[in-house]
Amino acid sequence: MTGTQRRLVVVSNRVGPLNDEGKAGGLAVGLADALRKRGGLWFGWSGNVSDKGTFSELSTEIAGTTALTTIDLSEAELEGFYFGYANRSLWPLLHYRLDIARFDRQSDRIYRSVNQRFAARLFPQIDDNDLIWVHDYHFFYLGSELRQCGFTGRLGFFLHIPFCPPEILTALPASHDLVRSMLAYDVVGFQTELDRRNFASFCVQELDGEELPDHQIRVHDRVVRAIACPIGVDAEGFADFALSPEAVEHEEMMRDIAHGRHQIVGVDRLDYSKGIIERLRGFEQLLEDYPENRGTSQFLQIAPLSRVELDAYAELRTEVEQIAGNINGRFATLDWTPVQIMTRGFTRKALAGIYRAARVCMVTPLRDGMNLVAKEFVAAQDERDPGVLVLSRFAGAREELSEALIVNPYSSEDVARAIQRALTMSLSERRDRYDALRHAVFTNTAGHWCAAFLRELEGAPPQ
Ligand code: ADP
Ligand code: F6P
Repeated sequence: MTGTQRRLVVVSNRVGPLNDEGKAGGLAVGLADALRKRGGLWFGWSGNVSDKGTFSELSTEIAGTTALTTIDLSEAELEGFYFGYANRSLWPLLHYRLDIARFDRQSDRIYRSVNQRFAARLFPQIDDNDLIWVHDYHFFYLGSELRQCGFTGRLGFFLHIPFCPPEILTALPASHDLVRSMLAYDVVGFQTELDRRNFASFCVQELDGEELPDHQIRVHDRVVRAIACPIGVDAEGFADFALSPEAVEHEEMMRDIAHGRHQIVGVDRLDYSKGIIERLRGFEQLLEDYPENRGTSQFLQIAPLSRVELDAYAELRTEVEQIAGNINGRFATLDWTPVQIMTRGFTRKALAGIYRAARVCMVTPLRDGMNLVAKEFVAAQDERDPGVLVLSRFAGAREELSEALIVNPYSSEDVARAIQRALTMSLSERRDRYDALRHAVFTNTAGHWCAAFLRELEGAPPQ
């Protein structure tokens, strides 16, 4: 193809929105930022369950230059595909949580059948000149299913979450099938170099593959390019959000309720990978080890509810509320409540104002693909008086944001020390660190990520 740009077709479980509605989830935010700029077709689940299930109609909505086409799941598919295989098996496993991963044959079967059905419905909508870009752990098999349908064009895959080492992944009964299915793609992208290495190690150790120059991996007759391609945010757009009237209103509200106290914030879906319990323990340790913070600092955790139907998430909610309650019970005074937990969603403009009012942002996952909150926090700061990012060594963002205060989230003492350091940091050190972080966030934006991946995909040799 010369002259004209190929059409981009994105496939992901969640689709849209393209605007600034409050929606928690890095994938939807990252893709919306990218698609708003390039346009194309975005294909995936409608978010609805219908009794027509397998035979449900495609529904299409046009937003600017992007068509959003979705289909429903049946009740059994929702349970087996989304809750079962994607979120009871793959999510914990890929986040290194073998202790809570559950495997069963039925959900494996339904997961594959949903991948097959989505491929069969997508195939008539595309042609071999399109660039097909499949996203995340819901659709590992979709590429090989499209090939079965006869698709010979360029197929890419990007994993938004971590890819665990083979020593963990092999606990999945069908781990060989799953990784072999990834070889149907021309390019597979990961958030970090560590994830890419784990994938390559699996191919070599488990599938008898070999690593070739230029990040290519050969497994028998298939060669796939495996790259680390970290996702970014629409940094300019988010910085503009932070100056919007809605952001300013939220920033002022936050400052009013803080009464001159230091505001520490965390913003995460209520998910066990995010380290919210450990973070609360770290804050409690701060109040113990550095008592000058009693009455002068407060911690706000914004934690929209996620996947509430799953036991692990319901239990997490109870535990978070208990620990927050214990800290408040132990330290609160008549005029000071140390911890506040909020489970509601915010628009991204409102979030930008909240980030800007924070002196410290805690991004301390136990394991995270990237963590866009870390990047959004940086993009929202006021360069004259920037806040400090406390970042887990286990967040994908750590590879790019090394000027944050890096912590081990499992150590409350380490977390407490980092918060104390952030709260007492000189303005000049805050500015120096911010300059380096800002450079990283504004250099590798969502647009750059998208362009970098698609360049690799365009360059892939035809099938
Ligand atoms: P994940 O994809 O695992 O949820 P990320 O940190 O990568 O984690 O992405 C989370 C995204 O969800 C960010 O863009 C963040 O702004 C958004 N988000 C988090 N909490 C809220 C909330 N309460 N309201 C709206 N958006 C939220
Ligand atoms: O970014 C990771 C991710 O799992 C996305 O794939 C997903 O859209 C988001 O988190 C929120 O999770 P869910 O789609 O299960 O609500």
